[in-house]
Amino acid sequence: MRGRKIIVGVTGGIACYKAVSLVSALRQQDFKVQVVLTENAAKFVTPVTFRAVSRQPVCTAEFAAGGEPVPHIGLVEDAALFVIAPATANTIAKLANGLADNILTASFLAARCPKIIVPSMNTAMWENPLTQENLQKLQKHGVEIIEPAAGYLACGASGAGRYPDTKIILQKIQETLGFAAKLRGKKIIITGGGTREPLDPVRVLTNNSSGQMGLALQDAAEKAGADVVYIDAAALDVQGLKEKIAAAFADADALIMAAAVSDYRAVQVSRNKIKSAPKKLTIELAKTEDLLKYFAGQKKKQYLVGFALESEDLLKNAEQKLREKKLDLIAANDISALSSAEATVILLDKSGVAETLERLPKTQIAARIIERVAAAVQA
Ligand SMILES: Cc1cc2nc3c(=O)[nH]c(=O)nc-3n(C[C@H](O)[C@H](O)[C@H](O)COP(=O)(O)O)c2cc1C
Repeated sequence: MRGRKIIVGVTGGIACYKAVSLVSALRQQDFKVQVVLTENAAKFVTPVTFRAVSRQPVCTAEFAAGGEPVPHIGLVEDAALFVIAPATANTIAKLANGLADNILTASFLAARCPKIIVPSMNTAMWENPLTQENLQKLQKHGVEIIEPAAGYLACGASGAGRYPDTKIILQKIQETLGFAAKLRGKKIIITGGGTREPLDPVRVLTNNSSGQMGLALQDAAEKAGADVVYIDAAALDVQGLKEKIAAAFADADALIMAAAVSDYRAVQVSRNKIKSAPKKLTIELAKTEDLLKYFAGQKKKQYLVGFALESEDLLKNAEQKLREKKLDLIAANDISALSSAEATVILLDKSGVAETLERLPKTQIAARIIERVAAAVQA
């Protein structure tokens, strides 16, 4: 999905300001977002705001689309999707009749990509048979309509016509682009990064985990529609990590422990900074709690995924860890995976079947792990 271009058309309704959140959320999902405003939309929210959140020049008038020779055509040529949010009754009527009298309506007519519109207006305008006929006509021609919500409206009335939650629009966009929301309604806890055990007020015992795998898993799970609780271990010691997981665990459907959890902690954390004077320093370490084992003991329905990073006997050690910790799936990494964007990973489940993912970017490995989790939690 990264880098795909989405056109966000914004028309002159009171809900215009909500389109700012939509643009921001799409940018955060790595889409390239091209905002197109009608002249009336620009009276509600200025192009400056949309330019800042989309990090792109905004098209506001037909002849000022970033130097494009034929702007309404150039705009849509490489678009993956065109969404109009909010869509006024006025623009809906124009679109339903094939009008192309401004940069937004002209580019919508010229676009061959999937199209979604998000009507938002006063209840009487929404219920007016003319608006409904216009929407049916658009639907008949393949345009997806997101039904407005009911509730308090800016005009003071209450009824249908409210701009829907941004999440609903994002979900529709993902579905339309073909991202099956396999984990919709599922809560997935993902940990990433390396824990930090304090030695004194300034020093910590940590490891070289970059946290990339955790973030790639978070991204893949969110794309699959999951409700993700991401816990960054780099800000926590083992006990702190345990508490964070425990707070989310009871109703979670899966726990994916990509965090590199310290095996040892200082027996005594020095209250003052340890002096650097002695030539040799001995710090007594004690084994930390095995969090995967602990949560395996707490498990009801949760699918547990662990990671094994080994420098030798990768498969043998992973098998042992899977069994001992009562995991459902283990991702065994070669040590070369540490701090690298790529990895070779063997996925091993309780049935004993091993799936090897040979030198792949961590994003692809994460996507495969999420597929396996989705298949298991849906079953
Ligand atoms: C304060 C205010 C709020 C408006 N809110 C809406 C609205 O939510 N939905 C709508 O369809 N029209 C709304 N309108 C009317 C549109 O702005 C008007 O129909 C305009 O021509 C739409 O232009 P456009 O579709 O080219 O952006 C509103 C007008 C004003 C002055």
